[in-house]
Amino acid sequence: MKKLEQLYEGKAKKVFKTDNADHYLIEYKDDATAFNGEKRGSIEDKGVVNNLMSAKMFQLLENEGVESHLVELLNDREMLVKAVEIIQVEVIVRNVATGSMVRRLGIEDGITLEPTVLEYCLKSDAFGDPIINDYHIAAMKLATEDEMKQIRDMAFKINEFMKETFIKLDLKLIDFKLEFGRFKGKIILADEISPDTCRFWEVGTNRKMDKDRFRQDLGNVKATYQEVLKKVQTL
Ligand SMILES: Nc1ncnc2c1ncn2[C@@H]1O[C@H](COP(=O)(O)OP(=O)(O)OP(=O)(O)O)[C@@H](O)[C@H]1O
Ligand SMILES: [Mg+2]
Repeated sequence: MKKLEQLYEGKAKKVFKTDNADHYLIEYKDDATAFNGEKRGSIEDKGVVNNLMSAKMFQLLENEGVESHLVELLNDREMLVKAVEIIQVEVIVRNVATGSMVRRLGIEDGITLEPTVLEYCLKSDAFGDPIINDYHIAAMKLATEDEMKQIRDMAFKINEFMKETFIKLDLKLIDFKLEFGRFKGKIILADEISPDTCRFWEVGTNRKMDKDRFRQDLGNVKATYQEVLKKVQTL
């Protein structure tokens, strides 16, 4: 496999072409941003944590019948993935209310959501990733109804598996963001699953174990990312 020219550089990862048209190489960076890029910084070895944790989560999900873009973990910072056409919708699953949901709706922070809340945001930095619904997705032709049904089913299945998995590690899964893509006529899970894209609260103490430590300047950011990876590596 040859790493060829860079296709795209995002806030957290770089995407490269390879000599196989079906595969891209993703390189995870240490750069950290929050609040739509307003807050910028870096978390030492975050790229390593997010790459290794994502690879592990994709492998575990594959065993549960959830197809992901992971082809192969290459090294500490790089993975080989299926070259998907990313659906321009961020899928957010919320088990407990916090963050933007609390700011937007005035709902009490930390309250359990029953049923679990599914939110969609348009993937658009220029518009600040605004919330959209199934009608916007249909009218904007972001995905078909059938694709959205698959995405919804996968998102809830992933949530059930991840809730059960993380509670064994003494981590409560508060919420998370997923991205999906089209690959050879199928919808598969793409992007990453990491402390950048999930919120975890430690069982018993409610200590925040995710990117909120960076967003809210809570300290011990690097050590907390390492702690989460260590736990995931016991799975
Ligand atoms: N398998 C894949 N094939 C193609 N693109 C992918 C794949 N997995 C993830 N991507 C895309 O790679 C880009 C870089 O990821 P990164 O997380 O750095 O983006 P970002 O700065 O968060 O920007 P965005 O708002 O576009 O997600 C993203 O646009 C993401 O959707
Ligand atoms: Mg991203």
